[in-house]
Amino acid sequence: MSDKLRKLKDDAAGLVVKGKLDKALEVYKVVLEQDPNDLTAQLKCGDILRKLDRGAEAIGSYTKVAEVYGADGLLLKAIAACKLILEIDPQHTATQAMLADLYAKKTGRAATALPAGFTAPPPVAAPPPLPRAAGDEIPTVSDEEVVVVEAETPPPPELPTIPLFSDLPKNAFIQLLEQMRMRSTLPGEVVIREGDVDTSMFIISHGKVKITKTSEKGSEVILAHLGDGTFFGEMALLSEAPRSASVIAAEETLLFEVSRDVLDQVVANFPSVKNILLKFYRQRLLSNLMATSPIFKPLDGEQRKSLVEKFKSREVPANEKILEEGQKGDGLYMLLAGKVEVAKKTDGKKQVLAHLKEGDVFGEMSLLTNQPVSASIKTIRKSIILKLPRKTFSEIVSTHPQLLAHISELSEERAKTTQAILAGQLKFGDDGLVLM
Ligand code: CMP
Repeated sequence: MSDKLRKLKDDAAGLVVKGKLDKALEVYKVVLEQDPNDLTAQLKCGDILRKLDRGAEAIGSYTKVAEVYGADGLLLKAIAACKLILEIDPQHTATQAMLADLYAKKTGRAATALPAGFTAPPPVAAPPPLPRAAGDEIPTVSDEEVVVVEAETPPPPELPTIPLFSDLPKNAFIQLLEQMRMRSTLPGEVVIREGDVDTSMFIISHGKVKITKTSEKGSEVILAHLGDGTFFGEMALLSEAPRSASVIAAEETLLFEVSRDVLDQVVANFPSVKNILLKFYRQRLLSNLMATSPIFKPLDGEQRKSLVEKFKSREVPANEKILEEGQKGDGLYMLLAGKVEVAKKTDGKKQVLAHLKEGDVFGEMSLLTNQPVSASIKTIRKSIILKLPRKTFSEIVSTHPQLLAHISELSEERAKTTQAILAGQLKFGDDGLVLM
């Protein structure tokens, strides 16, 4: 794209942000006069016309977009444009027919090259490998391209993916399409806020989002950027926990929004969808832990990865004992997801010492002191626990003294808190530790 066109598009986007829709529309039309194949400008015209209540013209713009994307195998984008038309006119028969045709492509027709002036979406980023326990059920799913391309035309690497939909049969796919809502966001708009409790997940049709999380020290860490064809918001749906991170539109972004009810229906009928979500969920948990937990701070990228690979992972239901006070310590544990309670028995009475959350470690005291486990650990809700066996722990700390120092410091602090609780000076209550 020429510098002049780029500048015009930036100006138009700025006018949209300021709410000057008529002016923005004029500028986008100039862009289209100079480059009629600019589908992002065409899509923006549709959005503006729709906001201006000029539905028929908006449908005209969206139809062009859907036709070209459909012809070029950019299915998610073509489907998004069709959905936008059907939101304006649910009875638009030509668009219903186009959707059916797009589905036919999903099941087997070859995709052609990208239209002139288009940059291909990046492939879905491969997350780091997961630690595995013997017999640990981590579903194996393929990240294969959805668009099945005829044998004689090998797929170019930049073909778009619809990873979530790849295994859905026709009816389920159409059912899902009907029930997804479209949502467009401006740059900087918060789509998901860390800590909120809400229940949708999103698939990016066009655009880019930034994923950020507050670290233990309170600073904001950028975890990832996600682009076309990827999804987010699955973690809270799977764990039933609050949002694990914030998601902010990095540019104007068009999203499919899938509610929990709709997803539940699809997953009940097609477990492969859940397997894909679970796989991403665990991998994202792990990479976030590596990015935010102080345990990994002293290590560089490679060392973090190799340490994580040594942990074994296990999913544990709520109310299950992980460690029993008095038993021999057998490893260092880390909570990947969920919540556990730490409690000790004194004079036959249970005393809660702490609740631990994702990223927290436990089991370190018995490892460091060679004494029996000093408190019992039980899951409060469904959790994913990582364990580093005693022997591996010893090997690692012998080569990473900073890690040993960090864990020793943590252990000392905890021992002091426990003493204060047992002496009746502190109490662990609903709001955490309180002075007595
Ligand atoms: P959820 O916790 O529901 O809301 C925030 C979302 O950010 C989360 O689901 C994931 O979809 C997404 N997310 C969190 N961490 C990462 C990551 N490391 N890479 C990509 N996406 C992530």
